[in-house]
Amino acid sequence: MTHLPFAELHLHLEGTLEPELVMELARRNDVTLPYRDVEELRAAYAFRDLQSFLDLYYANMAVLRTRQDFADMTAAYLARAATAGVRHAEIMFDPQAHLVRGVPLEVVVEGIASVLATSEDDHGVSTLLIAAFLRDRPEDEALDVLDRLLARGAPIAGIGLDSAEVGNPPARFARLFARAREAGLHLVAHAGEEGPASYVTDALDVLGVERIDHGIRSLDDDALVARLVAEQVPMTVCPLSNVALRAVDTLADHPVVEMLERGLNVSVHSDDPAYFGGYLDDNLDALGSSLGLTREQRIRLAENSVRSSFLPADRREELL
Ligand code: HPA
Ligand code: ZN
Repeated sequence: MTHLPFAELHLHLEGTLEPELVMELARRNDVTLPYRDVEELRAAYAFRDLQSFLDLYYANMAVLRTRQDFADMTAAYLARAATAGVRHAEIMFDPQAHLVRGVPLEVVVEGIASVLATSEDDHGVSTLLIAAFLRDRPEDEALDVLDRLLARGAPIAGIGLDSAEVGNPPARFARLFARAREAGLHLVAHAGEEGPASYVTDALDVLGVERIDHGIRSLDDDALVARLVAEQVPMTVCPLSNVALRAVDTLADHPVVEMLERGLNVSVHSDDPAYFGGYLDDNLDALGSSLGLTREQRIRLAENSVRSSFLPADRREELL
């Protein structure tokens, strides 16, 4: 099957760790997990909400210890993304989640970057790396990690904000985003996944983000929707994720097509594909069967994804 060229703009690299790779890395690194086999691990992938997912997501990271582990995870993702029609990927990783486990920053960054460096040649997928900061940890820690990334010249194109949203509003990270902006980095943030529409407004006005990750709760506020349409703010929506984390009841109830029809600049992405039931193609196929996504709508989603990327104009043109 031929695919439209898509840009994957909302993907957590650690969320691509498939159960098979978790078990393989556990064996390789002699890490004891509370699961006997892949089936037992897979059975744990039933979530009530964002936090119940995050608990497993962080726990499974225990198997990531060496440069090779990070490189293997990255290579496995790129190979799979290429088969999904992804031609460009802006990949988030969570440096703090590894630092708190005692894994040095250079192990994480060098492991990932070593594979990204050849991804265009190896897989036909261009890439950018985004350091995502954990909003349920202190801003001072995030500032310190950002400074360390910048000091060592880590190949990051931007920063993001993720982890437990409710009770951790964007405004807590104003200094972090100001510093990243001064450093010339792109700015994105999760907002309006479980948190209220006001977090979307604050991500735009207080943090100055260029893209909103998720943003589905914006639909609770008509004035905000009108603004998002007028400004054509990119929103990276992840349907299988929203259903898996029960932000939306079923795929048939998912608002993404309504968002598209209301003129919002939405595109579809996979978030944590190993945990939520699939990659970019799986998300699109699921929307096709549950919401009757048309070929025309699929094309709009593909074009929006490329236009909402941080690619230079010439590479964008190649993909449009
Ligand atoms: N939401 C918030 N933080 C995250 C997610 C998510 O879906 N995945 C990894 N970190
Ligand atoms: Zn996400």
